[in-house]
Amino acid sequence: MCGIIGYIGKKEANRILISGLERLEYRGYDSAGVAIIDDNNNNENNDNKINTNKVKGRVENLKCKNIPGMIGIAHTRWATHGRPSDANAHPFVDKTQDFAIVHNGIIENYLELKEELRKEGVSFTSDTDSEVIVHLIARNYSNNIKEAVIKTVKKLQGAYAFCVIKNDKKEIIGARNGSPLIVGVGEEENFLASDVSAVVEYTKKVIYLGDFQIAEVKNDSLNIYDFNGDEKEIEIKTIDWNLELAQKDGYKHFMLKEIFEQPKVIEDTLKVKMDIKKDFSKIIMVACGTASYAGLVGKYLIEKIAKIPVTYEIASEFRYREPLIDENDLVIAISQSGETADTLAAIRLAKEKGAKTLGLINVVDSTIAREVDDVLYTRAGPEIGVASTKAFISQLILIYKLAFKLAGKEFYFDLNKFKETLSLNEKLKELAKKYFLYQNFLYIGRNTSFPLALEGALKLKEISYIHAEAYPAGELKHGPIALVSEDMPTLAICPMDEVYLKTFSNIEEIKARDGKVISIATEGDQKIKEISDDIIYVPKVEEIFYPLLITIPLQLFAYHIADLKECDIDKPRNLAKSVTVE
Ligand code: G6P
Repeated sequence: MCGIIGYIGKKEANRILISGLERLEYRGYDSAGVAIIDDNNNNENNDNKINTNKVKGRVENLKCKNIPGMIGIAHTRWATHGRPSDANAHPFVDKTQDFAIVHNGIIENYLELKEELRKEGVSFTSDTDSEVIVHLIARNYSNNIKEAVIKTVKKLQGAYAFCVIKNDKKEIIGARNGSPLIVGVGEEENFLASDVSAVVEYTKKVIYLGDFQIAEVKNDSLNIYDFNGDEKEIEIKTIDWNLELAQKDGYKHFMLKEIFEQPKVIEDTLKVKMDIKKDFSKIIMVACGTASYAGLVGKYLIEKIAKIPVTYEIASEFRYREPLIDENDLVIAISQSGETADTLAAIRLAKEKGAKTLGLINVVDSTIAREVDDVLYTRAGPEIGVASTKAFISQLILIYKLAFKLAGKEFYFDLNKFKETLSLNEKLKELAKKYFLYQNFLYIGRNTSFPLALEGALKLKEISYIHAEAYPAGELKHGPIALVSEDMPTLAICPMDEVYLKTFSNIEEIKARDGKVISIATEGDQKIKEISDDIIYVPKVEEIFYPLLITIPLQLFAYHIADLKECDIDKPRNLAKSVTVE
Protein backbone atom coordinates (compact mmCIF):
# COMPACT_ATOMS: atom_id res chain seq x y z
CA MET A 1 0.00 0.00 0.00
CA CYS A 2 1.82 3.11 1.24
CA GLY A 3 1.03 6.74 0.61
CA ILE A 4 3.14 9.00 -1.56
CA ILE A 5 3.17 12.75 -2.15
CA GLY A 6 5.28 15.21 -4.11
CA TYR A 7 5.35 19.02 -3.99
CA ILE A 8 6.86 21.59 -6.32
CA GLY A 9 6.19 25.29 -5.89
CA LYS A 10 7.27 28.40 -4.07
CA LYS A 11 6.59 27.33 -0.51
CA GLU A 12 8.70 25.29 1.88
CA ALA A 13 8.01 21.70 0.84
CA ASN A 14 8.69 20.05 4.22
CA ARG A 15 5.54 21.25 6.00
CA ILE A 16 3.30 20.57 3.01
CA LEU A 17 4.70 17.09 2.52
CA ILE A 18 4.37 16.15 6.19
CA SER A 19 0.79 17.41 6.47
CA GLY A 20 -0.02 15.51 3.26
CA LEU A 21 1.53 12.37 4.70
CA GLU A 22 -0.62 12.71 7.80
CA ARG A 23 -3.69 12.52 5.60
CA LEU A 24 -2.27 9.52 3.79
CA GLU A 25 -1.33 7.66 6.94
CA TYR A 26 -4.42 5.46 6.60
CA ARG A 27 -2.48 3.76 3.78
CA GLY A 28 0.25 2.57 6.12
CA TYR A 29 2.20 3.79 9.13
CA ASP A 30 5.22 1.53 9.57
CA SER A 31 7.74 4.20 8.61
CA ALA A 32 7.83 7.59 6.94
CA GLY A 33 10.25 9.85 5.12
CA VAL A 34 10.81 12.95 3.01
CA ALA A 35 13.44 13.95 0.43
CA ILE A 36 13.80 17.59 -0.57
CA ILE A 37 16.08 19.34 -3.03
CA ASP A 38 18.07 21.99 -1.23
CA ASP A 39 17.95 24.61 -3.98
CA ASN A 40 19.35 27.49 -1.96
CA ASN A 41 22.91 27.07 -3.16
CA ASN A 42 22.24 28.21 -6.72
CA ASN A 43 25.86 27.94 -7.74
CA GLU A 44 27.12 27.68 -11.29
CA ASN A 45 27.35 23.91 -11.26
CA ASN A 46 23.78 23.72 -10.06
CA ASP A 47 24.88 20.88 -7.83
CA ASN A 48 22.06 21.11 -5.31
CA LYS A 49 21.84 18.39 -2.73
CA ILE A 50 18.93 16.13 -1.94
CA ASN A 51 18.45 15.87 1.83
CA THR A 52 16.37 13.10 3.37
CA ASN A 53 14.74 12.52 6.72
CA LYS A 54 13.32 9.04 7.24
CA VAL A 55 12.36 7.14 10.34
CA LYS A 56 10.67 3.99 11.52
CA GLY A 57 7.16 4.59 12.88
CA ARG A 58 4.62 7.34 12.48
CA VAL A 59 4.70 10.46 10.32
CA GLU A 60 4.80 12.69 13.41
CA ASN A 61 8.35 11.44 14.05
CA LEU A 62 9.44 13.46 11.01
CA LYS A 63 8.37 16.73 12.58
CA CYS A 64 11.47 17.28 14.70
CA LYS A 65 13.60 17.98 11.63
CA ASN A 66 13.11 20.70 9.06
CA ILE A 67 14.64 20.26 5.63
CA PRO A 68 14.78 23.36 3.43
CA GLY A 69 13.71 23.46 -0.20
CA MET A 70 10.68 23.83 -2.43
CA ILE A 71 10.73 20.56 -4.37
CA GLY A 72 10.31 17.28 -2.57
CA ILE A 73 8.71 13.87 -2.28
CA ALA A 74 7.52 11.91 0.74
CA HIS A 75 6.19 8.51 1.76
CA THR A 76 4.33 6.68 4.52
CA ARG A 77 4.89 2.94 4.42
CA TRP A 78 2.98 -0.28 4.89
CA ALA A 79 5.76 -2.87 4.82
CA THR A 80 5.65 -5.57 2.16
CA HIS A 81 9.32 -6.39 1.47
CA GLY A 82 11.61 -5.75 4.41
CA ARG A 83 10.57 -5.09 8.00
CA PRO A 84 9.74 -1.59 9.23
CA SER A 85 13.08 0.16 9.94
CA ASP A 86 14.86 3.43 9.20
CA ALA A 87 16.83 1.75 6.42
CA ASN A 88 13.74 0.34 4.74
CA ALA A 89 11.89 3.65 4.95
CA HIS A 90 11.42 5.60 1.69
CA PRO A 91 12.60 7.79 -0.06
CA PHE A 92 15.53 5.90 -1.55
CA VAL A 93 18.48 7.61 -3.18
CA ASP A 94 21.00 6.28 -5.70
CA LYS A 95 24.74 6.01 -5.09
CA THR A 96 25.41 9.60 -6.21
CA GLN A 97 22.48 10.85 -4.11
CA ASP A 98 21.35 12.83 -7.14
CA PHE A 99 18.06 10.94 -7.50
CA ALA A 100 15.39 10.11 -4.93
CA ILE A 101 12.23 8.05 -5.31
CA VAL A 102 9.14 7.04 -3.35
CA HIS A 103 7.11 4.01 -4.38
CA ASN A 104 3.73 2.46 -3.65
CA GLY A 105 3.14 -1.10 -4.91
CA ILE A 106 5.21 -4.23 -5.38
CA ILE A 107 8.00 -4.78 -7.91
CA GLU A 108 7.59 -8.50 -8.44
CA ASN A 109 10.84 -9.05 -10.36
CA TYR A 110 12.97 -7.07 -7.91
CA LEU A 111 15.25 -9.98 -7.00
CA GLU A 112 16.23 -10.44 -10.63
CA LEU A 113 16.75 -6.68 -11.07
CA LYS A 114 18.76 -6.48 -7.86
CA GLU A 115 21.06 -9.21 -9.10
CA GLU A 116 21.53 -7.43 -12.43
CA LEU A 117 22.31 -4.13 -10.70
CA ARG A 118 24.66 -5.76 -8.21
CA LYS A 119 26.70 -7.13 -11.08
CA GLU A 120 27.05 -3.54 -12.30
CA GLY A 121 28.47 -2.53 -8.93
CA VAL A 122 25.36 -1.13 -7.27
CA SER A 123 25.13 -1.73 -3.55
CA PHE A 124 21.78 -1.70 -1.78
CA THR A 125 20.97 -0.04 1.51
CA SER A 126 17.59 -1.70 2.15
CA ASP A 127 15.72 -5.01 1.89
CA THR A 128 12.90 -3.47 -0.12
CA ASP A 129 11.73 -4.16 -3.65
CA SER A 130 11.38 -0.40 -4.21
CA GLU A 131 15.06 0.50 -4.07
CA VAL A 132 15.75 -1.05 -7.50
CA ILE A 133 13.70 1.74 -9.09
CA VAL A 134 16.08 4.53 -8.07
CA HIS A 135 19.16 2.62 -9.22
CA LEU A 136 17.55 1.78 -12.55
CA ILE A 137 16.59 5.41 -13.13
CA ALA A 138 20.12 6.56 -12.30
CA ARG A 139 21.51 3.97 -14.71
CA ASN A 140 19.10 4.92 -17.50
CA TYR A 141 19.57 8.68 -17.14
CA SER A 142 21.30 10.76 -19.79
CA ASN A 143 19.82 14.24 -19.48
CA ASN A 144 16.09 13.78 -19.08
CA ILE A 145 14.34 12.15 -16.12
CA LYS A 146 11.17 11.35 -18.05
CA GLU A 147 13.19 9.43 -20.66
CA ALA A 148 14.98 7.53 -17.88
CA VAL A 149 11.60 6.68 -16.33
CA ILE A 150 10.28 5.42 -19.69
CA LYS A 151 13.30 3.09 -19.99
CA THR A 152 12.89 2.01 -16.37
CA VAL A 153 9.19 1.10 -16.44
CA LYS A 154 9.94 -1.28 -19.33
CA LYS A 155 11.99 -3.34 -16.88
CA LEU A 156 9.49 -3.35 -14.01
CA GLN A 157 6.93 -6.08 -13.37
CA GLY A 158 4.22 -5.64 -10.78
CA ALA A 159 2.12 -2.73 -9.59
CA TYR A 160 3.47 0.69 -8.86
CA ALA A 161 3.01 4.38 -8.48
CA PHE A 162 6.26 6.20 -7.95
CA CYS A 163 7.67 9.72 -7.92
CA VAL A 164 11.22 10.73 -8.68
CA ILE A 165 13.24 13.92 -8.25
CA LYS A 166 16.76 14.84 -9.34
CA ASN A 167 19.01 17.30 -7.50
CA ASP A 168 19.49 19.72 -10.43
CA LYS A 169 16.03 19.55 -12.04
CA LYS A 170 13.02 21.66 -11.16
CA GLU A 171 10.45 18.93 -11.78
CA ILE A 172 8.90 15.80 -10.32
CA ILE A 173 8.16 12.81 -12.49
CA GLY A 174 5.40 10.40 -11.46
CA ALA A 175 4.55 7.07 -13.09
CA ARG A 176 1.58 4.83 -12.57
CA ASN A 177 0.80 1.20 -13.33
CA GLY A 178 -1.76 -0.42 -11.06
CA SER A 179 -1.39 1.78 -7.94
CA PRO A 180 -3.20 5.11 -7.67
CA LEU A 181 -1.58 8.46 -8.42
CA ILE A 182 -3.15 11.87 -8.89
CA VAL A 183 -1.80 15.26 -9.84
CA GLY A 184 -3.04 18.21 -7.79
CA VAL A 185 -3.08 21.36 -9.91
CA GLY A 186 -2.37 24.58 -8.01
CA GLU A 187 -1.38 28.20 -8.70
CA GLU A 188 2.37 28.26 -9.34
CA GLU A 189 2.58 24.99 -7.48
CA ASN A 190 1.64 21.41 -8.24
CA PHE A 191 1.40 18.14 -6.39
CA LEU A 192 1.50 14.41 -6.96
CA ALA A 193 -0.20 12.13 -4.45
CA SER A 194 -1.74 8.73 -3.84
CA ASP A 195 -5.11 10.38 -3.36
CA VAL A 196 -6.85 13.71 -3.19
CA SER A 197 -7.02 13.87 0.62
CA ALA A 198 -3.30 14.74 0.66
CA VAL A 199 -3.70 17.85 -1.49
CA VAL A 200 -7.26 19.03 -0.89
CA GLU A 201 -6.06 21.65 1.59
CA TYR A 202 -4.24 23.38 -1.30
CA THR A 203 -6.26 22.65 -4.41
CA LYS A 204 -9.54 21.10 -5.52
CA LYS A 205 -8.32 20.59 -9.11
CA VAL A 206 -6.98 17.13 -9.80
CA ILE A 207 -5.95 14.88 -12.65
CA TYR A 208 -6.42 11.13 -12.15
CA LEU A 209 -3.45 9.52 -13.82
CA GLY A 210 -4.33 6.39 -15.81
CA ASP A 211 -2.35 3.18 -15.84
CA PHE A 212 0.78 3.30 -18.00
CA GLN A 213 0.97 7.07 -17.70
CA ILE A 214 3.75 9.42 -16.66
CA ALA A 215 3.27 12.92 -15.27
CA GLU A 216 5.97 15.54 -15.74
CA VAL A 217 5.21 18.16 -13.12
CA LYS A 218 6.85 21.58 -12.80
CA ASN A 219 5.62 24.50 -10.71
CA ASP A 220 4.07 26.30 -13.68
CA SER A 221 3.36 23.50 -16.15
CA LEU A 222 2.50 19.86 -16.39
CA ASN A 223 2.37 17.24 -19.10
CA ILE A 224 1.11 13.68 -19.21
CA TYR A 225 2.66 10.98 -21.39
CA ASP A 226 2.07 7.29 -21.96
CA PHE A 227 4.83 4.75 -21.46
CA ASN A 228 5.89 5.23 -25.12
CA GLY A 229 6.50 8.91 -24.47
CA ASP A 230 3.47 10.09 -26.48
CA GLU A 231 1.75 13.09 -24.97
CA LYS A 232 -1.79 12.55 -23.62
CA GLU A 233 -4.67 14.93 -23.26
CA ILE A 234 -5.14 16.37 -19.77
CA GLU A 235 -8.51 16.17 -18.07
CA ILE A 236 -8.73 18.28 -14.91
CA LYS A 237 -11.55 17.44 -12.48
CA THR A 238 -12.82 19.59 -9.65
CA ILE A 239 -13.38 17.60 -6.49
CA ASP A 240 -16.07 18.16 -3.96
CA TRP A 241 -14.32 17.49 -0.65
CA ASN A 242 -14.74 18.89 2.76
CA LEU A 243 -11.78 18.68 5.13
CA GLU A 244 -13.94 19.30 8.19
CA LEU A 245 -15.36 15.83 7.80
CA ALA A 246 -11.94 14.52 8.62
CA GLN A 247 -11.84 15.96 12.19
CA LYS A 248 -12.65 14.05 15.39
CA ASP A 249 -15.25 16.53 16.70
CA GLY A 250 -14.56 15.78 20.36
CA TYR A 251 -14.80 12.00 20.02
CA LYS A 252 -11.90 10.04 21.48
CA HIS A 253 -11.38 8.17 18.20
CA PHE A 254 -12.46 8.50 14.58
CA MET A 255 -13.96 5.04 14.84
CA LEU A 256 -16.40 6.13 17.56
CA LYS A 257 -17.25 9.30 15.68
CA GLU A 258 -17.89 7.27 12.54
CA ILE A 259 -20.13 4.81 14.40
CA PHE A 260 -22.24 7.72 15.62
CA GLU A 261 -22.35 9.28 12.16
CA GLN A 262 -24.19 6.26 10.82
CA PRO A 263 -27.77 7.60 11.03
CA LYS A 264 -26.72 10.51 8.79
CA VAL A 265 -24.90 8.13 6.47
CA ILE A 266 -28.01 5.98 6.15
CA GLU A 267 -30.16 9.03 5.49
CA ASP A 268 -27.77 10.21 2.75
CA THR A 269 -27.34 6.79 1.16
CA LEU A 270 -31.09 6.23 1.11
CA LYS A 271 -31.28 9.18 -1.29
CA VAL A 272 -29.07 7.50 -3.90
CA LYS A 273 -30.95 7.18 -7.18
CA MET A 274 -30.93 3.73 -8.65
CA ASP A 275 -31.84 2.90 -12.19
CA ILE A 276 -30.94 -0.72 -12.69
CA LYS A 277 -32.22 -2.99 -15.45
CA LYS A 278 -32.54 -6.68 -14.70
CA ASP A 279 -30.70 -7.78 -17.84
CA PHE A 280 -28.57 -10.50 -16.21
CA SER A 281 -29.26 -13.97 -14.88
CA LYS A 282 -27.04 -14.06 -11.82
CA ILE A 283 -25.03 -11.75 -9.60
CA ILE A 284 -21.49 -12.26 -8.34
CA MET A 285 -20.40 -10.14 -5.38
CA VAL A 286 -16.65 -9.49 -5.20
CA ALA A 287 -14.90 -7.61 -2.41
CA CYS A 288 -12.35 -7.83 0.40
CA GLY A 289 -12.54 -7.50 4.18
CA THR A 290 -15.55 -5.79 5.68
CA ALA A 291 -16.90 -4.94 2.23
CA SER A 292 -16.96 -8.64 1.42
CA TYR A 293 -19.18 -9.31 4.44
CA ALA A 294 -21.57 -6.67 3.14
CA GLY A 295 -21.51 -8.72 -0.08
CA LEU A 296 -22.39 -11.88 1.83
CA VAL A 297 -25.31 -10.14 3.53
CA GLY A 298 -26.24 -9.11 -0.02
CA LYS A 299 -26.33 -12.72 -1.15
CA TYR A 300 -28.86 -13.62 1.54
CA LEU A 301 -30.96 -10.51 0.97
CA ILE A 302 -31.06 -10.39 -2.83
CA GLU A 303 -31.84 -14.10 -3.13
CA LYS A 304 -34.60 -13.74 -0.53
CA ILE A 305 -36.13 -10.48 -1.69
CA ALA A 306 -35.48 -10.44 -5.46
CA LYS A 307 -35.16 -14.20 -6.11
CA ILE A 308 -32.01 -13.77 -8.22
CA PRO A 309 -29.10 -16.19 -7.69
CA VAL A 310 -26.12 -14.51 -6.07
CA THR A 311 -22.66 -15.92 -5.43
CA TYR A 312 -20.22 -14.34 -3.06
CA GLU A 313 -16.51 -14.22 -3.79
CA ILE A 314 -13.43 -13.00 -1.97
CA ALA A 315 -11.74 -10.91 -4.67
CA SER A 316 -8.24 -12.30 -4.08
CA GLU A 317 -9.53 -15.83 -4.72
CA PHE A 318 -11.85 -14.95 -7.58
CA ARG A 319 -9.10 -13.30 -9.61
CA TYR A 320 -6.82 -16.34 -9.60
CA ARG A 321 -9.28 -19.07 -10.39
CA GLU A 322 -11.08 -19.50 -13.65
CA PRO A 323 -14.53 -18.27 -12.70
CA LEU A 324 -17.35 -19.36 -15.00
CA ILE A 325 -18.91 -16.03 -15.80
CA ASP A 326 -20.11 -14.47 -19.03
CA GLU A 327 -22.13 -11.64 -20.53
CA ASN A 328 -25.26 -12.84 -18.73
CA ASP A 329 -23.76 -12.08 -15.36
CA LEU A 330 -23.56 -8.96 -13.26
CA VAL A 331 -20.41 -8.65 -11.16
CA ILE A 332 -20.81 -6.24 -8.24
CA ALA A 333 -17.64 -4.86 -6.67
CA ILE A 334 -18.04 -3.44 -3.18
CA SER A 335 -15.29 -1.17 -1.92
CA GLN A 336 -14.97 1.77 0.42
CA SER A 337 -11.73 3.06 -1.09
CA GLY A 338 -12.37 2.00 -4.66
CA GLU A 339 -8.66 1.20 -4.83
CA THR A 340 -8.33 -2.30 -3.34
CA ALA A 341 -5.96 -4.10 -5.70
CA ASP A 342 -7.70 -7.49 -5.59
CA THR A 343 -11.17 -6.04 -6.09
CA LEU A 344 -9.91 -3.97 -9.00
CA ALA A 345 -8.31 -7.03 -10.59
CA ALA A 346 -11.55 -9.00 -10.11
CA ILE A 347 -13.47 -6.30 -11.97
CA ARG A 348 -10.95 -6.28 -14.80
CA LEU A 349 -11.26 -10.06 -15.08
CA ALA A 350 -15.07 -9.83 -15.10
CA LYS A 351 -14.94 -7.27 -17.91
CA GLU A 352 -12.53 -9.43 -19.89
CA LYS A 353 -15.06 -12.23 -19.68
CA GLY A 354 -17.81 -9.95 -20.95
CA ALA A 355 -19.77 -9.66 -17.70
CA LYS A 356 -21.51 -6.43 -16.76
CA THR A 357 -19.92 -4.65 -13.82
CA LEU A 358 -21.38 -2.46 -11.10
CA GLY A 359 -19.45 -0.78 -8.28
CA LEU A 360 -20.80 0.08 -4.83
CA ILE A 361 -18.05 2.53 -3.96
CA ASN A 362 -17.49 5.24 -1.38
CA VAL A 363 -14.63 7.29 -2.80
CA VAL A 364 -15.84 9.26 -5.79
CA ASP A 365 -13.76 8.88 -8.96
CA SER A 366 -11.55 6.20 -7.41
CA THR A 367 -10.03 3.66 -9.78
CA ILE A 368 -12.74 1.00 -9.43
CA ALA A 369 -15.46 3.65 -9.71
CA ARG A 370 -13.94 4.76 -12.99
CA GLU A 371 -13.48 1.27 -14.41
CA VAL A 372 -16.88 -0.34 -13.74
CA ASP A 373 -19.71 -0.03 -16.27
CA ASP A 374 -21.97 1.54 -13.64
CA VAL A 375 -21.29 2.96 -10.22
CA LEU A 376 -23.51 3.65 -7.23
CA TYR A 377 -21.85 5.75 -4.57
CA THR A 378 -22.33 5.02 -0.91
CA ARG A 379 -22.58 8.33 0.91
CA ALA A 380 -20.49 7.54 3.96
CA GLY A 381 -18.13 10.53 3.54
CA PRO A 382 -14.43 10.15 4.31
CA GLU A 383 -13.85 7.18 6.61
CA ILE A 384 -10.64 7.66 8.58
CA GLY A 385 -10.67 4.82 11.14
CA VAL A 386 -8.88 1.87 9.60
CA ALA A 387 -11.60 -0.50 10.82
CA SER A 388 -14.57 0.11 8.56
CA THR A 389 -17.87 1.04 10.25
CA LYS A 390 -19.98 3.67 8.52
CA ALA A 391 -18.86 2.49 5.08
CA PHE A 392 -20.19 -0.99 5.94
CA ILE A 393 -23.59 0.35 6.95
CA SER A 394 -23.80 2.42 3.77
CA GLN A 395 -22.92 -0.66 1.70
CA LEU A 396 -25.74 -2.56 3.41
CA ILE A 397 -28.18 0.24 2.63
CA LEU A 398 -27.30 0.18 -1.07
CA ILE A 399 -27.68 -3.59 -1.07
CA TYR A 400 -31.15 -3.36 0.49
CA LYS A 401 -32.12 -0.73 -2.06
CA LEU A 402 -30.81 -2.92 -4.85
CA ALA A 403 -32.66 -6.01 -3.60
CA PHE A 404 -35.95 -4.11 -3.35
CA LYS A 405 -35.45 -2.40 -6.69
CA LEU A 406 -34.76 -5.72 -8.42
CA ALA A 407 -37.87 -7.15 -6.78
CA GLY A 408 -39.88 -4.16 -8.02
CA LYS A 409 -40.77 -3.21 -4.44
CA GLU A 410 -40.56 -0.01 -2.39
CA PHE A 411 -37.86 0.10 0.28
CA TYR A 412 -38.57 1.75 3.60
CA PHE A 413 -36.45 1.64 6.75
CA ASP A 414 -37.34 3.32 10.03
CA LEU A 415 -34.22 5.23 11.02
CA ASN A 416 -35.55 5.82 14.55
CA LYS A 417 -34.97 2.18 15.47
CA PHE A 418 -31.38 2.55 14.32
CA LYS A 419 -30.88 5.71 16.38
CA GLU A 420 -32.39 3.96 19.39
CA THR A 421 -29.86 1.14 19.02
CA LEU A 422 -26.99 3.62 19.29
CA SER A 423 -28.10 4.34 22.86
CA LEU A 424 -26.70 0.90 23.74
CA ASN A 425 -23.29 2.57 23.89
CA GLU A 426 -23.13 2.86 27.70
CA LYS A 427 -24.33 -0.70 28.18
CA LEU A 428 -21.64 -2.01 25.81
CA LYS A 429 -19.01 0.02 27.60
CA GLU A 430 -19.98 -1.77 30.85
CA LEU A 431 -20.08 -5.16 29.16
CA ALA A 432 -16.62 -4.60 27.70
CA LYS A 433 -15.25 -4.21 31.26
CA LYS A 434 -16.35 -7.76 31.98
CA TYR A 435 -14.85 -9.30 28.85
CA PHE A 436 -11.79 -7.33 27.77
CA LEU A 437 -9.29 -9.68 29.37
CA TYR A 438 -10.41 -12.78 27.46
CA GLN A 439 -8.06 -13.87 24.71
CA ASN A 440 -10.44 -15.84 22.52
CA PHE A 441 -14.00 -15.39 21.33
CA LEU A 442 -16.44 -17.30 19.19
CA TYR A 443 -19.04 -15.41 17.16
CA ILE A 444 -22.03 -17.32 15.82
CA GLY A 445 -25.14 -16.59 13.78
CA ARG A 446 -27.37 -18.08 11.13
CA ASN A 447 -28.71 -16.64 7.90
CA THR A 448 -27.89 -12.89 7.62
CA SER A 449 -26.55 -13.05 11.18
CA PHE A 450 -23.71 -15.26 9.95
CA PRO A 451 -21.99 -12.55 7.85
CA LEU A 452 -22.56 -10.22 10.78
CA ALA A 453 -20.78 -12.69 13.05
CA LEU A 454 -17.88 -12.59 10.57
CA GLU A 455 -17.88 -8.81 10.61
CA GLY A 456 -18.16 -8.61 14.42
CA ALA A 457 -15.25 -11.02 14.86
CA LEU A 458 -13.19 -9.10 12.29
CA LYS A 459 -13.78 -5.83 14.17
CA LEU A 460 -12.64 -7.41 17.44
CA LYS A 461 -9.50 -8.93 15.85
CA GLU A 462 -8.56 -5.78 13.96
CA ILE A 463 -8.67 -3.27 16.77
CA SER A 464 -8.24 -5.23 20.03
CA TYR A 465 -5.94 -8.05 18.76
CA ILE A 466 -8.16 -10.61 20.47
CA HIS A 467 -8.52 -13.87 18.61
CA ALA A 468 -12.12 -14.25 17.40
CA GLU A 469 -13.58 -16.89 15.12
CA ALA A 470 -16.92 -16.65 13.43
CA TYR A 471 -19.03 -19.62 12.41
CA PRO A 472 -22.49 -20.34 11.10
CA ALA A 473 -24.20 -21.39 14.34
CA GLY A 474 -25.22 -24.72 12.79
CA GLU A 475 -21.62 -25.55 11.98
CA LEU A 476 -20.49 -25.35 15.60
CA LYS A 477 -20.97 -29.04 16.26
CA HIS A 478 -18.66 -29.92 13.35
CA GLY A 479 -15.53 -28.77 15.12
CA PRO A 480 -15.50 -25.39 16.83
CA ILE A 481 -17.61 -26.57 19.77
CA ALA A 482 -14.44 -28.38 20.89
CA LEU A 483 -13.05 -24.93 21.69
CA VAL A 484 -15.91 -24.00 24.01
CA SER A 485 -14.81 -23.61 27.61
CA GLU A 486 -15.04 -21.07 30.42
CA ASP A 487 -12.13 -19.24 28.80
CA MET A 488 -13.69 -18.78 25.39
CA PRO A 489 -16.93 -16.82 25.46
CA THR A 490 -19.37 -16.92 22.55
CA LEU A 491 -21.16 -13.93 21.15
CA ALA A 492 -24.38 -15.36 19.74
CA ILE A 493 -26.50 -13.33 17.33
CA CYS A 494 -30.04 -14.53 17.82
CA PRO A 495 -32.75 -12.04 16.81
CA MET A 496 -36.40 -13.05 16.47
CA ASP A 497 -36.20 -14.26 12.90
CA GLU A 498 -37.03 -17.43 11.02
CA VAL A 499 -33.97 -19.27 12.43
CA TYR A 500 -34.40 -18.03 15.99
CA LEU A 501 -35.19 -21.45 17.49
CA LYS A 502 -32.28 -23.07 15.67
CA THR A 503 -29.72 -20.58 17.01
CA PHE A 504 -31.40 -20.81 20.42
CA SER A 505 -30.65 -24.54 20.48
CA ASN A 506 -27.02 -23.88 19.56
CA ILE A 507 -26.74 -21.51 22.52
CA GLU A 508 -28.14 -24.27 24.76
CA GLU A 509 -25.44 -26.60 23.44
CA ILE A 510 -22.76 -24.09 24.44
CA LYS A 511 -24.26 -23.62 27.91
CA ALA A 512 -24.35 -27.39 28.38
CA ARG A 513 -20.57 -27.31 27.96
CA ASP A 514 -19.93 -24.52 30.45
CA GLY A 515 -19.39 -21.89 27.79
CA LYS A 516 -20.19 -18.25 28.54
CA VAL A 517 -22.66 -16.63 26.14
CA ILE A 518 -23.36 -13.01 25.31
CA SER A 519 -26.53 -12.93 23.23
CA ILE A 520 -27.66 -10.20 20.89
CA ALA A 521 -31.42 -10.62 20.83
CA THR A 522 -34.70 -8.86 20.22
CA GLU A 523 -36.16 -6.59 22.88
CA GLY A 524 -38.81 -8.42 24.86
CA ASP A 525 -37.27 -11.87 24.40
CA GLN A 526 -37.29 -13.12 28.01
CA LYS A 527 -36.62 -16.72 27.12
CA ILE A 528 -33.10 -16.12 25.84
CA LYS A 529 -32.20 -14.34 29.08
CA GLU A 530 -32.36 -17.64 30.90
CA ILE A 531 -29.63 -19.22 28.83
CA SER A 532 -27.36 -16.17 28.37
CA ASP A 533 -24.72 -14.81 30.73
CA ASP A 534 -25.20 -11.38 29.25
CA ILE A 535 -27.71 -9.98 26.85
CA ILE A 536 -27.87 -7.04 24.48
CA TYR A 537 -31.33 -6.20 23.21
CA VAL A 538 -31.92 -4.45 19.91
CA PRO A 539 -35.33 -2.97 19.09
CA LYS A 540 -37.92 -5.16 17.40
CA VAL A 541 -38.06 -4.56 13.63
CA GLU A 542 -39.16 -6.43 10.54
CA GLU A 543 -36.99 -9.56 10.29
CA ILE A 544 -34.92 -8.57 7.28
CA PHE A 545 -33.74 -5.34 8.91
CA TYR A 546 -31.96 -6.90 11.90
CA PRO A 547 -28.55 -6.77 10.16
CA LEU A 548 -28.65 -2.96 10.25
CA LEU A 549 -29.37 -2.80 13.97
CA ILE A 550 -27.13 -5.68 15.05
CA THR A 551 -24.13 -4.06 13.38
CA ILE A 552 -24.12 -1.37 16.08
CA PRO A 553 -23.53 -3.54 19.19
CA LEU A 554 -20.90 -5.51 17.28
CA GLN A 555 -19.00 -2.32 16.46
CA LEU A 556 -19.34 -0.84 19.95
CA PHE A 557 -18.38 -4.06 21.74
CA ALA A 558 -15.13 -4.27 19.74
CA TYR A 559 -14.51 -0.54 20.19
CA HIS A 560 -14.87 -0.51 23.99
CA ILE A 561 -12.80 -3.65 24.46
CA ALA A 562 -10.01 -2.15 22.35
CA ASP A 563 -10.27 1.12 24.27
CA LEU A 564 -9.96 -0.65 27.62
CA LYS A 565 -6.90 -2.45 26.27
CA GLU A 566 -5.52 0.97 25.27
CA CYS A 567 -5.04 -0.12 21.67
CA ASP A 568 -4.36 2.31 18.87
CA ILE A 569 -7.94 2.04 17.62
CA ASP A 570 -7.78 4.25 14.54
CA LYS A 571 -4.46 2.82 13.38
CA PRO A 572 -4.27 -0.82 14.45
CA ARG A 573 -0.92 -2.54 14.15
CA ASN A 574 0.02 -4.19 10.85
CA LEU A 575 -3.05 -2.87 9.01
CA ALA A 576 -3.76 -0.17 6.47
CA LYS A 577 -7.03 1.21 5.26
CA SER A 578 -6.47 1.12 1.56
CA VAL A 579 -4.88 -2.07 0.34
CA THR A 580 -3.39 -1.34 -3.05
CA VAL A 581 -1.10 -4.36 -3.11
CA GLU A 582 -2.25 -7.93 -3.50
C1 G6P B 1 -8.69 -3.15 4.40
C2 G6P B 1 -9.42 -2.33 5.45
C3 G6P B 1 -10.82 -2.90 5.67
C4 G6P B 1 -11.57 -2.97 4.35
C5 G6P B 1 -10.80 -3.74 3.29
C6 G6P B 1 -11.41 -3.58 1.91
O1 G6P B 1 -8.41 -4.40 4.91
O2 G6P B 1 -8.70 -2.31 6.66
O3 G6P B 1 -11.51 -2.05 6.57
O4 G6P B 1 -12.80 -3.57 4.57
O5 G6P B 1 -9.46 -3.26 3.19
O6 G6P B 1 -11.27 -2.25 1.53
P1 G6P B 1 -12.22 -1.49 0.52
O7 G6P B 1 -11.64 -0.12 0.44
O8 G6P B 1 -12.11 -2.23 -0.78
O9 G6P B 1 -13.59 -1.52 1.07
